[in-house]
Amino acid sequence: MEALLQQIENYKQEIAAVEASTLEAVESFRIQYLGSKGLLKTVMGEMKNVPNEHKRAFGQVLNEFKQFVEAKFELIQQAAGGGTDNAKDNNFDWSLPGSFVPVGTRHPLTVVRNQIVSIFKTLGFAIAEGPEIEDDWHNFGAMNLPEDHPARDMQDTFYISQNPAWLLRTHTSSTQARVMESQKPPIRVICPGRVYRNETISARAHCFFHQIEGLYIDENVSFADLKQTLYFFVQEMFGKDVRVRFRPSYFPFTEPSAEMDISCLICDSKGCNVCKHTGWVEILGSGMVHPNVLENFSIDSNKYTGFAFGLGVERICQLKYQVNDLRLYSQNDVRFLKQFTGVM
Ligand code: DAH
Repeated sequence: MEALLQQIENYKQEIAAVEASTLEAVESFRIQYLGSKGLLKTVMGEMKNVPNEHKRAFGQVLNEFKQFVEAKFELIQQAAGGGTDNAKDNNFDWSLPGSFVPVGTRHPLTVVRNQIVSIFKTLGFAIAEGPEIEDDWHNFGAMNLPEDHPARDMQDTFYISQNPAWLLRTHTSSTQARVMESQKPPIRVICPGRVYRNETISARAHCFFHQIEGLYIDENVSFADLKQTLYFFVQEMFGKDVRVRFRPSYFPFTEPSAEMDISCLICDSKGCNVCKHTGWVEILGSGMVHPNVLENFSIDSNKYTGFAFGLGVERICQLKYQVNDLRLYSQNDVRFLKQFTGVM
């Protein structure tokens, strides 16, 4: 033990005397003393030969020795003008402007989807999600759109070449089917997601877009519930002054069916391109769930009724933030995206 301590003292003197003025000399110091096969490692290795009762004291000596070698290294490195951060900083021009790290923003469609989801959450709707690659049954058949149904024409889509039984879902109504398959009433869900159509891309149409589906099934659900729920939603989304109207419509999966319009927020109902000079803009399709759809999932249509609706997120975003071209949402142009900085 004594001999070992003496040895370390000798090393210290040897190291203290080292002079290194070139970067090469600094590097060879590092290798000789601090390297993976250097002196420090060797001395540390002595620990295992030290009797247990001295290990603690020897540990302290080792620690000091290590600090001593490192401090010396730092010193000669600086003297040689070499590369610690501190040494570099001395030559750094602190007056230079900082480098800019751009912060991303939420995509406007995400912002709007979150707003819609949180409104329906306050009404007790749970979130359900379904696959974007669907089969014919969930997308069409179960929703009362059998093969050769003319309404399929309006929802042409993309088929998967390896397996033509698979397609890209054309609406989030397919998630209704998935939910009814796995849950018993009462059911109260909203289903956000991306959908696809075989459309030529333009300012007003795209081959993919986003929808939010709603489904509420219980005993005694009526059309009045549907109207009140959707009226509440638009008031929360667009403010109390917004007016709504329901127009009779047709969807195979609902009976009766209605489309809901809201007063045009772009021109304050005075007439513009967005509302096609009518003062009204369609924002969603809705209706009472067709008994055939309920029965497809063994839900007793004499006992249960329900309403459903499907809205387009892009359309809501267009009205809320005056986005006039659908293509903007997927072009990744930061001039567009950064306008939503800080919008939650
Ligand atoms: N799936 C329809 C579409 O994409 C929208 C829709 C209409 C959904 C009426 C519904 C509904 O749930 O009841 O055009």
